[in-house]
Amino acid sequence: MGNVKAAVFASGTGSNFQALLESESLAADIVLLVCDRPGAMVIEKAKAYGIPVFVADRKMFADKAAFELDILRQLQLHKVEWIFLAGYMRLIGNTLLNAFPSRIVNIHPSLLPAFPGKDAIAQALQAGVKVTGVTVHYIDAGMDTGPIIAQEAVSVETGDSLSELTERIHQVEHRLYPKTINHLLVQH
Ligand code: GRF
Repeated sequence: MGNVKAAVFASGTGSNFQALLESESLAADIVLLVCDRPGAMVIEKAKAYGIPVFVADRKMFADKAAFELDILRQLQLHKVEWIFLAGYMRLIGNTLLNAFPSRIVNIHPSLLPAFPGKDAIAQALQAGVKVTGVTVHYIDAGMDTGPIIAQEAVSVETGDSLSELTERIHQVEHRLYPKTINHLLVQH
């Protein structure tokens, strides 16, 4: 049996997307990048790796359902079975949630439920916590609220800058995301 086919949704620099692509034994084939931000760096990364890119511009659609239906068509075209979010900055709506029940996974740079939403690493620094980390979780209709699959702690060192802490969190993300995806996929 071949690997499951997966799409990555990302809107940013794409370091997690790249980590998944470079992971030696990922139990999924990444067959599509979905990006909602024309011009995002992750698009160039996908092209460099020969991964098809679908750029979905929310402004072109009257509502979220129409926007997601357009994405869904592409996912079906590529026979996508799982969706991995990696820096996709938009809530997933019912159209995609219903089409992929318990098959949409996200990575978030904090120990949820602490610091959901944007700028989670800056929020942790601001709060003065000594430990933050990384969470991999299923997506539901809320903001970073779905069932938690895996977490790993990262210490905040005295005097850490945002970029230093971000770098250490990214290192954990790049290891934890492929490992967690592989664990999940053997269970299915
Ligand atoms: C990561 O920190 C991820 O946890 C969050 O968005 C960031 C994406 O970074 N959801 P990158 O584009 O993968 O470098």
